Amino acid sequence: METTLVLIKPGGVQRNLIGEITRRIEARSLKVVGLKLINAPRATVEEHYAEHRERPFFNGVVEYLTSGPIVAMTVQGDNAVKAIRAMMGATNPLDATPGTVRGDLALSIEDNLTHSSSDPDAAARELQLWFPEGTI
Ligand code: CDP
Ligand code: MG
Repeated sequence: METTLVLIKPGGVQRNLIGEITRRIEARSLKVVGLKLINAPRATVEEHYAEHRERPFFNGVVEYLTSGPIVAMTVQGDNAVKAIRAMMGATNPLDATPGTVRGDLALSIEDNLTHSSSDPDAAARELQLWFPEGTI
């Protein structure tokens, strides 16, 4: 059993896609065990994307993640990390396979709707960051 983090980015919330994205996760038999709608603190987003600090898109992605409410979700299930990454699709929606969230619902890399943890170690770090209070 694995646990992973999903963020629905501001564009997804603004476009009323909370239900659609959550529906896909639940339909896959993955379990939502933590869920909140928040205005992400800038410091949390900067720490979340620390690996990208030197990249040209770092400021843009931090601005974007703090531009409006996001949904933070803890998802549990067998191979949840890999399963969720595959469901979300490639980072650039133009490369994302149809049938994935990004491949079906997004067009631009700056507004690719979701974040999901890349591996179990990242998931553990990110869950500590976004759900310090723990989950049920
Ligand atoms: O989100 P994912 O793990 O698929 O991609 P990443 O390579 O870890 O990049 C993190 C986020 O930065 C992406 O989801 C995009 O929102 C943003 N990004 C961007 O705006 N422009 C890029 N060239 C690459 C990433
Ligand atoms: Mg990433």
